[in-house]
Amino acid sequence: MSKKTVIGKIGPSVLNSDLANLHDESLRLLDCGADYLHLDVMDGHFVPNITFGHPVVKCLRTKIKDAFFETHMMVSNPLQWIEPMSSAGVDQYTFHVEPIEDIPYACRKVREAGMKVGLAIKPATPVEILESYVDLADTVLIMTVEPGFGGQKFMDDMMPKVRWLRNNYPSLDIEVDGGVGLNTIQNCAEAGANMIVSGTAVIAAENPSKVIATMREIVNSEITKKNIF
Ligand code: DX5
Ligand code: ZN
Repeated sequence: MSKKTVIGKIGPSVLNSDLANLHDESLRLLDCGADYLHLDVMDGHFVPNITFGHPVVKCLRTKIKDAFFETHMMVSNPLQWIEPMSSAGVDQYTFHVEPIEDIPYACRKVREAGMKVGLAIKPATPVEILESYVDLADTVLIMTVEPGFGGQKFMDDMMPKVRWLRNNYPSLDIEVDGGVGLNTIQNCAEAGANMIVSGTAVIAAENPSKVIATMREIVNSEITKKNIF
């Protein structure tokens, strides 16, 4: 079996964009070089905020056929939205493991629904609990802020979790999310993250294309150094 290739990918989060113009904002980010779109779904229970759900994602998909959509499910019942998100055209279903009793079952359901599997953990959740499940996932998402809101301060003390994953799973897609931008990307890249979610730092940038390209370059250069490509 050939080894999976780890490459740097930048997935802007639309959370802090003009949500009334979600289509235009998404197109703008893709034009600026986004590798995928990170769509933050919040239910007001798992996190103290509400965004949008599968009906909105479905409408976006009818207008944007070929971009890779990742939904970051910050919801109390991730099992409930697997089917609806799959029919909405989602490519990767990234859910928090904290509210899940049977993680292998949830992974299987996501895969059976035709989506890639992302496992996400909040800052207080130890990464070691994922040990038995990493093989069932395509991506592990390490939150670098408390989930719920964009524009928060990056938690550098989450980097040991990323490093632990990269050391133990050299070809895993490791994603970071929260407060990631030009000031914090180097630390994420050095620790071993290769999928980079960035909201405010991209959305509010004067030159989003440059920010996206620079972050990708930094990540890819660390991957080359680590010889994990
Ligand atoms: C936070 C969300 C993030 C957030 C990222 O709960 O999961 O995706 O929108 O935004 P920034 O980069 O501004 O922290
Ligand atoms: Zn997110």
